[in-house]
Amino acid sequence: MKRVGFLTSGGDCQSLNATMRGVAKTLYQKYDDVEIYGILEGYKGLIYGNYRVMKSSDFSGILTEGGTIIGTSRQPFKKMREPDENGLDKVQAMKDNYKQWGLDCLVILGGNGTHKTANMLSEEGLNVVTLPKTIDNDIWGTDITFGFQSAVNLATNAIDCIHTTAASHGRVFIVEVMGHKVGWLTLHAGIAGGADIILLPEIPYDINIVIDALDKRNKQGKKFSILAVAEGAISKEDAALSKKQLKAKMKKEEKVFPSISYQIGQQIQERTGQEVRITVPGHTQRGGAPCPYDRVISSRLGAAAARLIIEERYGYMVGFRNNEIIPVPLNEVAGRLKTVNPDSSIIREAQGLGISFGI
Ligand code: F6P
Repeated sequence: MKRVGFLTSGGDCQSLNATMRGVAKTLYQKYDDVEIYGILEGYKGLIYGNYRVMKSSDFSGILTEGGTIIGTSRQPFKKMREPDENGLDKVQAMKDNYKQWGLDCLVILGGNGTHKTANMLSEEGLNVVTLPKTIDNDIWGTDITFGFQSAVNLATNAIDCIHTTAASHGRVFIVEVMGHKVGWLTLHAGIAGGADIILLPEIPYDINIVIDALDKRNKQGKKFSILAVAEGAISKEDAALSKKQLKAKMKKEEKVFPSISYQIGQQIQERTGQEVRITVPGHTQRGGAPCPYDRVISSRLGAAAARLIIEERYGYMVGFRNNEIIPVPLNEVAGRLKTVNPDSSIIREAQGLGISFGI
């Protein structure tokens, strides 16, 4: 008899259910007597003892279903060692529930914060296997995270839709793309959507160069321009500030500008006289059904995670590198971010296409 706990943590994405299905199906194929505990709402369920015993039928018909059938929540890693409002030791509570439920292992699906806690639990002696989830694609140790490609499709679709209206009106359009502190999603959607200017957190922009790029397009007789701006994009001046200075500046600015795109939009409007419109697709980028690519990746990663469980190899994230699925030690993944390298060939190729990064 194997008893495995499933847990989804952090922001959701389109392919969580497809991934859990991959793990469950492979386990059900192997064992007649596997029992899966669905731990509800991420680490919260593990801390406070909320779970439901899943049936194999729970994993049927969910390959195409976005969201997560067991719910999720954000439980910041830095607060894990702090007692809760009733003095509960959260780490001890997670260990106690794991033991009390008689789990053989935990399968944890999540992003960066989730991996820090997963690594901590592994170091505390629990058997853990993790899977790299996030639309941001910023998990170290894997070329791709599940959810990313579906989000690229949606963000690209937003840019595609803007294209036709931009062409009719001759305006400057900014599409703000999610991605937290990294630019993968914006870079891919920007290239796929034919954006003229792409601004990423990893490449601090110079607003003068952004304006020059717009002027150049005007002189070429182009009626409109589209900017794909990462929600974490940052100007050169701001990037030069200390963390403390930047925090104080952003606190002031957020009263005027809901996000970076609004600030850039105002600067463009003032300096060029062109009309600017801003589109923020926001959480739509995390919604809906997983694209076929994600369904394949999720199924493969899920099957590989189950294989690790069958082999009783714990303390790994199942990653995807050079088209192969590989186990990556959790302590290598935790606390590291995979960012866009400004010197990588994708940036050079995009520049070759005439895309400006504001530098
Ligand atoms: O990490 C996924 C993500 O969608 C980021 O791109 C974004 O910055 C963040 O989550 C939004 O978080 P929340 O759903 O908590 O507002």
